[in-house]
This record gives sequence, structure tokens and C-alpha cells, in this order.
Amino acid sequence: MIRSGVFFAVALLVLSAPAMAQTNSKAAYDELCLSCHKQPQRLSARLANTVEARTKLDEFLIKHYAPDAEKRAAVIDFLYQAK
Ligand code: HEC
Repeated sequence: MIRSGVFFAVALLVLSAPAMAQTNSKAAYDELCLSCHKQPQRLSARLANTVEARTKLDEFLIKHYAPDAEKRAAVIDFLYQAK
């Protein structure tokens, strides 16, 4: 009984990981960007769907309010998801 409970908890964690990742990227955007950029769509609409554009954005954000690599990656994910 206890063992199946543990299995269930682990399965739940694994299954909810993608949803959590999405929440985290929104949380990172809200924390770092929302105060000035109220509409993420306005930013994401201008992003080209290319590796170059993504790399440029990454470099830009190092100096633009997202020095933390993990949060920066989350923010970029969020902007590309919002497209
Ligand atoms: C303290 C205010 C502030 C914060 C916080 C902020 N920005 Fe900005 N951002 C600006 C201003 C001002 C500009 C330049 C004017 C404009 O384009 O709106 C700008 C420009 C940009 C641009 C270029 C837009 C263009 O016209 O090419 C991008 C992309 C951007 N910000 C993304 C972000 C992201 C992502 C975050 C969160 C990590 C963030 N910004 C946080 C104020 C801010």
C-alpha cells in the first residue's frame, strides 16, 4: 500500500514536470520583465523564429535585467511560447 503510494507520487511528479516548467518560465518573466513590459506578446511578436534571433536575445538580456543564466533561459522560453 505504502509502496504504491510512493510510485503514484513519483509518477505525478514526472507527469507534471512540463507544466511546472511552463509556470516557472512565466514566473521568471513576471519577476524580471513584467514591471516594464506589461504585454509579453509585444516583445515576442518581434522575435524571429531563428537560432540567431534567440542567441541575440540571450546576449541582449544578459545586460538587460536577466543576468542569471537559468532565469534568462526561462524568460526566453516564455517569450517563444507566447508567440
Ligand atoms: C526597468 C524597466 C525594464 C525591465 C525590468 C525590462 N525592460 Fe526590456 N526594455 C525596457 C525599455 C525602456 C526598452 C527600450 C524601449 C522599448 O523598446 O520599449 C526595453 C527594450 C527591450 C527589448 C527590445 C525591444 C525592441 O524594440 O527591440 C526587449 C526584447 C526587451 N526589452 C525584453 C525584456 C525582457 C525579456 C525583460 C525581462 C528579463 C526586460 N526587457 C526587462 C525596459 C525594461
